[in-house]
Amino acid sequence: MAILVTGGAGYIGSHTCVEMLNAGLDIVVVDNFVNSSPESCDRVRRITGRDFPLEECDIRDEKKLSGIFDKYDIDSVIHFAGLKAVGESCVKPLEYYDNNINGTLVLLKVMRAHNVKTMVFSSSATVYGDKNTAPFNEEMETGKATNPYGTTKLFIEQILTDLAKADKEWSICLLRYFNPIGAHESGLIGEAPNGIPNNLMPYVAQVAVGKLKEVHVFGNDYPTPDGTGVRDYIHVVDLAKGHLAAIKRAKSVKGTEIFNLGTGKGVSVLDLINAFKKATGVDIPYTIEARRAGDVATSYADVSKANKILGWHAEKDVVDACRDSWHWQTQNPNGYNK
Ligand code: NAD
Ligand code: UD1
Repeated sequence: MAILVTGGAGYIGSHTCVEMLNAGLDIVVVDNFVNSSPESCDRVRRITGRDFPLEECDIRDEKKLSGIFDKYDIDSVIHFAGLKAVGESCVKPLEYYDNNINGTLVLLKVMRAHNVKTMVFSSSATVYGDKNTAPFNEEMETGKATNPYGTTKLFIEQILTDLAKADKEWSICLLRYFNPIGAHESGLIGEAPNGIPNNLMPYVAQVAVGKLKEVHVFGNDYPTPDGTGVRDYIHVVDLAKGHLAAIKRAKSVKGTEIFNLGTGKGVSVLDLINAFKKATGVDIPYTIEARRAGDVATSYADVSKANKILGWHAEKDVVDACRDSWHWQTQNPNGYNK
C-alpha cells in the first residue's frame, strides 16, 4: 500500500516525503513541476536511502492520473499540489481557481473511482481571515479571504467537508499551516522560490547571501510589541512530521477533522531578523517601509487540538529554522538550478 503525494516535489511535499520514507511508509509522488524540479526527489532519495516512483502528471489530467491509480496500490493521498503565490493569484485568478479547485475536483473523482477515500489536505491559516483574534483555533468561523489564493483554500475546505458529509466512507484531515520556514538539516532540500521571494524567510536568506540588498520591513506601526507583524513560524520538518501524524489519524477516523499546525508562539519580523543573526552571525540590513496590503497584524495558532489528538507538537524553534535555511541557501544559492 502506498500514499500518493501530489505536489511531492515542492517545498513542504519534499520534506514530508523524507518523513514518510524514514517512517517506513511507501509513497508515489505526482507533480507537474510547475513550481519545482525532479531534482528535489533525487535529493529525498539521497537523504533517506530509499527509492520511490515519481510520475510527471498534472492532477487535472484525469486520464493520466487514473492510470497512476491503476498502476500502483494507493490507499490514501496527501494533497499538496497547488499554486500558492498570493500576489500572482490576484493577477491570474482563473489560473488559480482552475489549478487548485479544478485540480482537487479531478483528484477526488479519480480517488472515488478507485475507492480511495482517505486524504490529508494542505490548507492555510489564511482561512482565519482578519476578523478573528489570535490565537486562532479550529472552532473559529473562517473569514473572507483577501485574495483568490486564499479563496481556493476556503472553497476546497468546503468541498472536502461536503464530500465527507455526503459519503461516510471518506476520511479527511484539513491541515491549516501557519508560516512554514527552514529546511532539512542536511541542506539538501529547502525552499526554492522563483524570482524575488514574496515571503519573509526566503527574502532574509537571500539578503544574507548578498543576492538582495536589504529586507523591506512592511510596517512598524502595528499593535504588536515592536510594531512589526507577528506570525507563527513553524519549521518545515516539524510540519512534515505533522503529516505523518495526520495520515495515521485519517486512516483510523472517518469524517472531516481540522488541525492547526503551528508552534503556538508569535514572532515579529524584527524577532526573525534577529534570530537569523543569532543563528548565522550574519548581519541583515533592513529598512522600514509602508504596510503591505492584505497583511494582518498578528497570526498565531492555538495548537492544543493537534497536541492532544494527533499527539504532535513542534520541536524546533526559529533559530533552528534560520540555521537550516542558511545551510540550504549557502549550499544551493540558485535553488535546484545548480
Ligand atoms: P510548492 O509550490 O513548493 O509545492 C507545490 C507543488 O505542487 C509544486 O511542486 C508544484 O509543481 C506542484 N503542482 C502545482 N500544481 C500542480 C498540478 N496541477 N498538478 C501537479 N502538480 C502541481 O509549495 P509548498 O510551499 O510546498 O506548498 C504546498 C501546499 O501547501 C500548497 O497547497 C500550498 O498552498 C499549501 N500551503 C503552503 C504554505 C507555505 O507557506 N508554503 C502555507 C499554507 C499552505
Ligand atoms: C503569506 C500570505 C498567506 C500565505 C503565506 C504562505 C499574504 C498577505 N499572505 O503569509 O496567504 O498562506 O504567505 O506562507 O501575502 N514581511 C516583511 N517583508 C517582506 C516579506 C514579509 O516585512 O519582504 C512581513 C509581512 O508583512 C508579515 C511577515 O513578514 O508580517 C510574514 O510575511 P510572509 O512571509 O509573506 O507571510 P504571511 O504574510 O504571513
